[in-house]
Amino acid sequence: MKFYLTTPIYYVNAAPHLGHTYTTIAADTIKRLKTMQGYGAVLTTGTDEHGQKIERAAAAAGKSPREFTDIIAEEFRSQWETLGLSVDHFQRTTSPNHVKAVQDLFLRCKRNGYIYKGSYTGEYCVSCELYVNDAKPGDPCPDCGRPTETVTEENYYFKLSAFQDRLLDLYLKQPDFVQPETRRNEVLAFVRQGLQDLSISRTTIKWGIPVPEDEKHVFYVWFDALTTYMSAVEGGNLWPADLHLIGKEILRFHAIYWPAFLWAAGLEIPKKIFAHGWLLIEDEKMSKSRGNMIRATPIQKALGADTLRYFLLREVVFGQDGSFSYDALVGRYNADLANGLGNLASRTLSMIHQYRSGEIPNAKDLGDDQIAHTARGVAEMALQCYDRLEFSKALEAIWSLIGAVDKYIVAQAPWNLAKTPEGAGALDMTLYTAAEALRIVTALLYPVIPAAAGRIWRQLGCSLPIEQVRTADLHWGHLPAGQKLNAVEAVFPRADLKASVASMREYEAGELARQQALLGKQAPPATAPAAKDGSPQITIDDFVKVDLRVGQVKSAAAVKGANKLLHLQVDIGEPQPRSIVAGIAEAYQPDALVGRKVVIVANLAPRKLRGLESQGMIVAASLDNGSPVLASFLEEVPVGARLK
Ligand code: MSP
Repeated sequence: MKFYLTTPIYYVNAAPHLGHTYTTIAADTIKRLKTMQGYGAVLTTGTDEHGQKIERAAAAAGKSPREFTDIIAEEFRSQWETLGLSVDHFQRTTSPNHVKAVQDLFLRCKRNGYIYKGSYTGEYCVSCELYVNDAKPGDPCPDCGRPTETVTEENYYFKLSAFQDRLLDLYLKQPDFVQPETRRNEVLAFVRQGLQDLSISRTTIKWGIPVPEDEKHVFYVWFDALTTYMSAVEGGNLWPADLHLIGKEILRFHAIYWPAFLWAAGLEIPKKIFAHGWLLIEDEKMSKSRGNMIRATPIQKALGADTLRYFLLREVVFGQDGSFSYDALVGRYNADLANGLGNLASRTLSMIHQYRSGEIPNAKDLGDDQIAHTARGVAEMALQCYDRLEFSKALEAIWSLIGAVDKYIVAQAPWNLAKTPEGAGALDMTLYTAAEALRIVTALLYPVIPAAAGRIWRQLGCSLPIEQVRTADLHWGHLPAGQKLNAVEAVFPRADLKASVASMREYEAGELARQQALLGKQAPPATAPAAKDGSPQITIDDFVKVDLRVGQVKSAAAVKGANKLLHLQVDIGEPQPRSIVAGIAEAYQPDALVGRKVVIVANLAPRKLRGLESQGMIVAASLDNGSPVLASFLEEVPVGARLK
């Protein structure tokens, strides 16, 4: 039986960060779990390399798209390898077989009458590669908030509207097609509003897959990227996919467009889409655009890849958003891995070495009934939770068994039993029970912490490699008496909070410098640690580069068609006032601003917004609801004064 699963095909506009790693680790865990259940599990990931976003990132790095994508795609590939993730297919959208697969999909849809040519003028978000329906010029993108850009193009259209009823039918008849339930409801509501046809080609971009027989068009990146799930496993009898694992922000593309494309081409659709939540850093999504990225390698170097895997799957409820911080990571490491699992393993194995010469004793009735009963219940519960991708609950259940065995050991006090010959039977019983529970715990944890589980497994003397363990082997009593243990070694030594966090920050600075050097950017000083998670510390030399000045608003006016923008003229003591376009219209009336003293970033590179040049930026606090509050002074300050 096969089980084919995928991660998203990640954009190569930036190197991998913990957000990408989160999905890929979850996918690797599911793959191991399915293997344990006897499936031939296959995992595809890859890189999404075409489109304007990538073209621009390459230009900003002074590289050709090809050079740039080669570098970043390799960063992704090697990141998964370094973390020990079991990827079967790493597919790049620039690979020739993929190019052909996209063109074939298009031709199939066209032959079946679902493609036509039309012209479009509208707002487009370059960052999300998304047309924003009903938006006015410059309106913010509903997904990322950046201003949209007006584009006019003659495009190939896909008849998405033809699939509305069939999609609704799918969500209703196959309620687990989109998981979790809340996401399914979102998709249902969206499709019920009505679907418009979708433009699937671009003429304004060069960096893309050409449309067959009309090569001035290239494919819309999502038509291109989604096809990777098939092109990666061409000819392998793996289609349809059993599971597409994605982040919640790309649900619409997967749950609406993708089945429609496949139906139009006469192909089978995937069986399930699961959209998880976001990893947050101080309540904000971790992302390149917010510059609050944390990378996996520094964590791996300091505490091991399994610690990261465990933390992500235990701390964050899969499907919901969850916060990441170094402090919480080290806290969990010490509490759960060092004190919980690590301690159970080392005390159980050490006692068997000490009292029974390293051989699993023969226990009457295969150990303690109560613990055996608990272990059966926990194994069943953990496997059910895993199946529903409730990793956190599964791990909680497994830790309840660790806790129960710890208590049992303390209650039996094997160190006292060992003192008298009469205690021998009870000592055998205690040691067997603890070792068998440890074996079951270890096997259940293998999908989440494969390397550490493998090490405990070997110390237990189990001959079958842990990768080959199947759920049937989880039965209580499988551990044979007489099995010889191997030497005991600490799997999770306790970590000092301060020292671990400091070393992760130091590695993080080094990793950032390495990645920047790869792209030919100047690396920041390697010694600069992050001030707090994700925000790099700067020196005074960095700070003085920002020219902050006191300005006075001379005039303010609404910008036509842009609800959020005001156009200001601000005197900063120069011969001419500065023209500044600011996103403060929802918080300030233009008239109320005239005469007001404000703080301006005076040396920001000018840029055009709605055709108006903005020669600087106005400084404001940003409230939780996104509303701006202008920085101001309690004392009188002269126009043009510098802030230092
Ligand atoms: N290229 C598209 C996907 C095409 S799939 C056919 C894309 N790429 S991406 O690089 O932006 O990756 C998005 C995915 O990375 C998310 O859907 C999620 O799986 C993962 N994550 C990126 N940042 C994340 C967080 N901060 N938190 C959790 N997952 C995140 O979209």
